[in-house]
Formats: sequence, C-alpha cells, structure tokens
Amino acid sequence: MASHNIYDDPDFLAGYSSLKRQVHGLDGAPEWPVLRTLLPDMAGRRVVDLGCGFGWFSRWATEHDAASVLGIDISTRMLERARAETTATSVEYRCLDLDVLDLDPRSADVVFSSLALHYVRDLDRLMSTVSAALVLGGSLVFSVEHPILSAPTSQEFESSAQGDRIWPLNNYLVEGERVRNWFVDGVVKQHRAVATYVNTVLDTGLIVDRIVEWGPSADDIEARPELADGLHRPWFLMLRATKPAT
Ligand SMILES: C[S@@+](CC[C@H](N)C(=O)[O-])C[C@H]1O[C@@H](n2cnc3c(N)ncnc32)[C@H](O)[C@@H]1O
Repeated sequence: MASHNIYDDPDFLAGYSSLKRQVHGLDGAPEWPVLRTLLPDMAGRRVVDLGCGFGWFSRWATEHDAASVLGIDISTRMLERARAETTATSVEYRCLDLDVLDLDPRSADVVFSSLALHYVRDLDRLMSTVSAALVLGGSLVFSVEHPILSAPTSQEFESSAQGDRIWPLNNYLVEGERVRNWFVDGVVKQHRAVATYVNTVLDTGLIVDRIVEWGPSADDIEARPELADGLHRPWFLMLRATKPAT
C-alpha cells in the first residue's frame, strides 16, 4: 500500500505553507530552541533529515558545518521548494518513502526528524534502519506530535462545569491511524503511546538519553498566546538516543 502523501495536495500545501514555522523557518517553530539543545555539534558530521519538508533543518545543519546532509521526503512539492532554497552543494534531497527506506549501514553520524515520524506506519522498520545506519556513538534526535495530542477522537478543547479548559483525552492506548481535518479533510496520522516510541528505539539497541514533553514557556505564551494550550497537553514529544560506542 502506497504511503499517504498529503503534502503534495495543493490545498493542503497552501494552508501548510502559511504556518509561521513555514514562513519563518526554524525561528518560527516555538519548540526549536529546545529541540536544538538535544542536538550534537554538527561540524564534520554526516547528517540525515527524515521528512525534511522545505529543508529548514537541512540548511541549518550545513550552515553549522555538517560535512553532508541527506534530506529525505515523500513529497515532490516540498522537495521542489527545498531544492530552490538550498544553495549548498553539501545538501542532497531525495524523494523517498520513510516506510520503505534503506540507508547504508554506518553511513550517518546524526539522524534527525522534525514532526514527520507520526506519518510513518512501520516505525519498527524505520528505527531498525536508522539504528543500523548510525555509526557507533552516533545520535538520533526527533520530534513528533505529542501522543496526548494525537490520541483523542475530538481535537477540540472542552469546558468543565467549573469553567476549566479540558483536553478530551480518550483512546490513548488505541494505537494506529487517526484521520484529521487539517487544512483539508482526510489527513492520516499514526498515533502511538509514549512508551511505544521509547521502546521502539530501545529495541534497536540505541540508548534513549533524553525525552522532552514540549510545552510553552511564559515568554512563548507572551509572544504567542495561542500556545498556552500546551500547558494542558504538551504539543510535542522529543527524544534523543545514542548508539553505544562499543
Ligand atoms: C510536518 S512536515 C515537517 C517538515 C519538516 N521536517 C519541518 O519540521 O519543517 C512532515 C513532513 O514529512 C513528510 N512525510 C510524511 N510521510 C512521509 C513518508 N512516508 N516518507 C517521507 N516523508 C514523509 C511530509 O511530506 C512532510 O514534508
């Protein structure tokens, strides 16, 4: 079965491109300052960016002296803009499906992914590929939509009798497809519990050394009040793992 490729839908792409994070890049992504702290030094590293989209991180990595960056995405339209906005010859973009991706063993020092893995159906397979592709001591850093956000049937906050804002969490342990209305109808994402993300990585032999459940700081909320919902349920799950050096 072919993977869902909603980013090539023109109506979806028009809406997605208008998001602050796609207009301003990493500076418009409120979680970037924290995600960045999970990353190792890029200098001289061979980096893979899974679900690279418009290539914001791929360009950042090369500007921070990565030896090479391989940006991978299933969407030809996302990659078209990524290529148009990238001048560095050390960045290569390839149109590939993460669900059937192959990478050469020990070919990467850093594997990164921002907000793409919750579209991947076979995470076990992809994480095994990533683990084999990392060199000893190499790092995996990724962010996904937080499972408390991705789980519920309803994506609308409710109000308690006391007037408290309530996130209607249900179906947390019912993993699998979630079909959402986000810019267009029928956007398919994959919900997984936090433990599944962690254990899937651990089962490949990588060591998880940091997890972040990202919510906004007071400064973030002052700058962008709409982020305050992240105090009730985190927006993003971030994870860093390392391939043991021996
Ligand atoms: C939310 S965007 C994130 C883009 C970029 N990483 C960023 O943070 O700006 C998710 C990206 O994952 C890509 N994607 C989704 N499913 C994929 C798959 N099966 N294989 C490769 N890329 C995929 C989409 O095309 C899209 O570019």
